Amino acid sequence: MKVIVTNDYHEMSKVAAEIVSHVVLDNPNAVLGLATGSSPIGLYNNLIEMYEAGLLSFANVSTVNLDEYVGLDRDHPQSYAYFMRNVLFDHIDIDLGNTHIPCGSADNLEQQCRQYNELLASLKQDIQVLGIGSNGHIGFNEPGTPFDSVTHIVQLADSTIKDNSRLFNSIDEVPTKAITMGISNIINARKIIVIANGTNKADAVYKMVQGEISENCPASVLQKHPDVVLVCDTLAAAKLKM
Ligand code: F6R
Repeated sequence: MKVIVTNDYHEMSKVAAEIVSHVVLDNPNAVLGLATGSSPIGLYNNLIEMYEAGLLSFANVSTVNLDEYVGLDRDHPQSYAYFMRNVLFDHIDIDLGNTHIPCGSADNLEQQCRQYNELLASLKQDIQVLGIGSNGHIGFNEPGTPFDSVTHIVQLADSTIKDNSRLFNSIDEVPTKAITMGISNIINARKIIVIANGTNKADAVYKMVQGEISENCPASVLQKHPDVVLVCDTLAAAKLKM
């Protein structure tokens, strides 16, 4: 795994945006696998700036997102569908019809998982953007998730609910279940970029890059992928032995 350590969130976001933008410049029909959460917001801001400066177009790009909370419909302000429109899609020239996020409010969630797997089979990610949970999760694949998993419904770990409660009025409002791409759907991407910042990611980053490859740390599976780049800040890199 290639590791790029940057000084801070600002620089991390710029470097990450350069990498993602090159994928789109090389292939205007690229399929981007996208993540939500705090880590990629700066990356998305940089992509918006490149679009506004006329350097990048998303007119023919398709996107597939990692995950969505169960129980929230796409217009709920805490849904990931809403988040993606807010932080990226509404600010670039992407066709919303080419953006895909699992539907957490579907009546039949098992069927929704099957349909998302079929979609992913036809839209292989040219690059997958990942954040990492403080417990080593990728997507919402919590520790213990099999490496061969596909899109499924997951019970969120207590630590994930606690981490994500910062974005809700109270911890009781955080959904306890989500629909997530499985680990094999993620690893299927041609290229993967992980972005991580802050001290609370240092343990997970160490286990992902230099720890044992184990389902106890889902992100450690990335050691097996031939084209992964980690872009992190010095705080998240603090435990790496360089
Ligand atoms: C988000 C996702 C999660 C986050 C991870 C880090 O779609 O799948 O794996 O990437 O929880 O979240 P932040 O970036 O908020 O620290």
